[in-house]
Amino acid sequence: MPAWRRVWLLVVTLLLALSCLATAGPYTDSAHGNTTTGVDRSSIDARYSTFIKGNCSHCHEQHSSLGGSEPLPVGSAHNPALRFAPEEHLCNICHDGSPVSKNIASEFNKQYRHPVTDYADRHTLSLDEKGQNGAPFRGLNRHAECSDCHEPHTAQGALHIAPGNDVSGMLLGVWGVEPNSDLRWQPALSFREESPATKEYQLCFKCHSGYALWEVDGIANFTGPSGVLITDQAMEFSKANRSAHPVRIGMNYQTGSYGTRSLSRDKMKAPWNLTIGEQTMYCSDCHDTDSSTVAGPHASANRFLLQGSWTWPYRPIDGKLWTLNDVRSNINSWNSRLLCAKCHSLNFNDMSDEHPHLKTGHTSNYGAEPYTTYDSSFSCVACHIPIPHGSAVSRLIGYDTLPEPYKITVSTGATFPVLRQFKKEQVYSKRSCFVPNTAACHSAHTIKVDGAD
Ligand code: HEC
Ligand code: HEC
Ligand code: HEC
Ligand code: HEC
Ligand code: HEC
Ligand code: HEC
Ligand code: HEC
Repeated sequence: MPAWRRVWLLVVTLLLALSCLATAGPYTDSAHGNTTTGVDRSSIDARYSTFIKGNCSHCHEQHSSLGGSEPLPVGSAHNPALRFAPEEHLCNICHDGSPVSKNIASEFNKQYRHPVTDYADRHTLSLDEKGQNGAPFRGLNRHAECSDCHEPHTAQGALHIAPGNDVSGMLLGVWGVEPNSDLRWQPALSFREESPATKEYQLCFKCHSGYALWEVDGIANFTGPSGVLITDQAMEFSKANRSAHPVRIGMNYQTGSYGTRSLSRDKMKAPWNLTIGEQTMYCSDCHDTDSSTVAGPHASANRFLLQGSWTWPYRPIDGKLWTLNDVRSNINSWNSRLLCAKCHSLNFNDMSDEHPHLKTGHTSNYGAEPYTTYDSSFSCVACHIPIPHGSAVSRLIGYDTLPEPYKITVSTGATFPVLRQFKKEQVYSKRSCFVPNTAACHSAHTIKVDGAD
């Protein structure tokens, strides 16, 4: 950039600063702009003590700002906003434990993480990344920097509270995308940019949907840090799907779902048992850090960035699939490690109602089923889709005809799910499920069709 343009940008910047400060706009309401708790580099470099807390200069290099001996901004090629340091390095000047006590920087040392520290020079400015139909997040441009998810001029201190899906204070001002169409188990045809995003998932869809991925079948040709193919979450959370977690809309409004849409209150743990059918949830109710001192879906020691110490579909004790028997026999710490148990009550008595294999009279089949060879019990993913976001089939059931990564193969060579047909019902019977294997009893029954009530 020629020198005069830099100067011009700074004049504009300063004018912006003055107008913001004068009108007490979003910046002065932000965590950074707060004049008593906001940005302050003076504990790092005493020369900054001439600036009041919250001043833009703690992040932006303004010429002659420090009595003519201003530090040069680093990484100028991709630093058009004249930050002192590029990308995460700027944020981590303060968010590494000092002066801000919560250490976000160290989160990114974990194995399963957003690739904030893995790439440089892929991010330009969030403003410039708009209007390009997702190209900045695709292919060799794919990236995630702090400023992709946080707008530093407007972010505030409040974390999200479940249930709900509105952006939390942390995400205020950041932009995202919303699908223009909802098709059953197909990528959306187009997206519109929401600036600012009002829902957390709109931020995630900026990189985790067809907007960025452009895949006709919703499956990208590369894997994420957990070693599984990356897929289109807008397809998985389409309102036209037969089932989905209520990330976008409450279950009562899931247009593709039929019959009884919501679950019954007694199947849910607090706070999910209050506004059944109406409630929504956050991606970050499942994907978040394992840390107990900081929040945010930055990174986790758990595969798939799962929150706390929850796991799916493999149990941590031996790396085998979670099974109905873990719940039935109350073993392998299922109550504190099996992800679904974070929100669903899943006690054996509940399970016996809708997991027919556990019903009295069916338990004798338990060890004899051909699908039990893996662990002498039905694994959860024998019936449920391994990526538990949504499904073309009711109640997050998956079929054996699904491609990877909706189908998984275990060390014995067995693949899951095993069902070929399923029908959501009030009371389940053998006729509710069809397994395409003549050795399996359910193949003898004619299935009713899912969705045709
Ligand atoms: C010069 C120091 C400094 C820099 C650089 C900085 N921050 Fe902050 N940040 C703060 C302070 C101070 C707070 C307020 C903390 C508080 O209120 O406890 C804050 C708060 C936040 C919050 C709200 C969370 C909270 O706990 O209040 C977010 C989100 C945030 N910063 C993200 C960023 C991002 C992203 C960057 C880089 C683009 C960045 N920060 C750069 C000092 C800084
Ligand atoms: C916490 C650090 C921080 C503070 C404080 C801060 N900025 Fe920024 N600013 C950034 C970062 C980081 C970017 C680049 C954002 C991106 O990558 O999209 C930026 C970008 C900008 C841009 C370029 C356009 C845009 O929004 O992307 C302008 C103009 C700007 N800042 C002005 C200001 C003004 C004026 C103030 C004070 C009122 C201020 N900034 C305070 C970190 C900060
Ligand atoms: C600016 C882009 C961007 C945004 C926004 C974004 N992500 Fe990501 N995410 C990535 C990238 C890049 C990866 C690494 C794998 C890849 O390239 O897809 C990733 C990886 C992940 C993974 C780990 C996958 C694995 O294999 O373990 C999860 C889970 C995830 N993101 C969830 C989210 C959630 C939830 C949100 C919204 C709060 C979100 N992401 C927002 C870019 C983004
Ligand atoms: C009910 C919990 C839950 C919710 C809500 C949820 N996820 Fe996931 N997600 C998971 C689990 C479990 C996996 C691991 C699936 C597997 O084993 O392959 C996963 C996998 C992923 C992956 C990695 C593989 C892939 O398919 O790309 C990404 C990225 C991801 N989720 C993003 C999101 C986003 C974005 C949202 C919100 C729009 C979201 N998730 C909501 C539980 C959840
Ligand atoms: C963070 C909380 C949370 C976690 C974790 C979670 N769920 Fe859910 N689940 C919900 C909520 C909330 C609903 C909607 C209940 C309602 O409002 O009726 C739901 C609904 C469902 C439904 C019904 C979907 C439909 O459209 O018919 C199924 C099936 C389901 N969950 C299975 C699972 C499985 C399997 C897991 C573990 C892989 C899991 N859930 C993990 C919160 C969660
Ligand atoms: C993929 C998106 C994404 C990226 C990249 C990202 N964040 Fe966050 N961050 C979030 C979300 C989402 C939350 C809050 C979730 C909530 O509301 O519960 C959050 C929370 C935070 C918080 C509040 C933590 C707390 O416990 O109060 C801070 C501070 C923060 N992020 C800073 C950063 C910094 C610094 C970087 C880069 C080094 C960064 N974030 C990168 C999505 C992201
Ligand atoms: C034999 C097939 C099958 C297996 C195996 C199975 N499920 Fe289900 N699951 C279902 C069916 C069918 C429903 C739908 C019940 C309904 O319509 O209310 C369901 C519903 C659920 C729900 C929604 C809430 C509820 O209680 O109804 C959750 C959560 C769930 N299953 C978790 C699991 C977990 C965790 C495992 C493994 C421990 C598992 N399932 C194994 C068939 C199965």
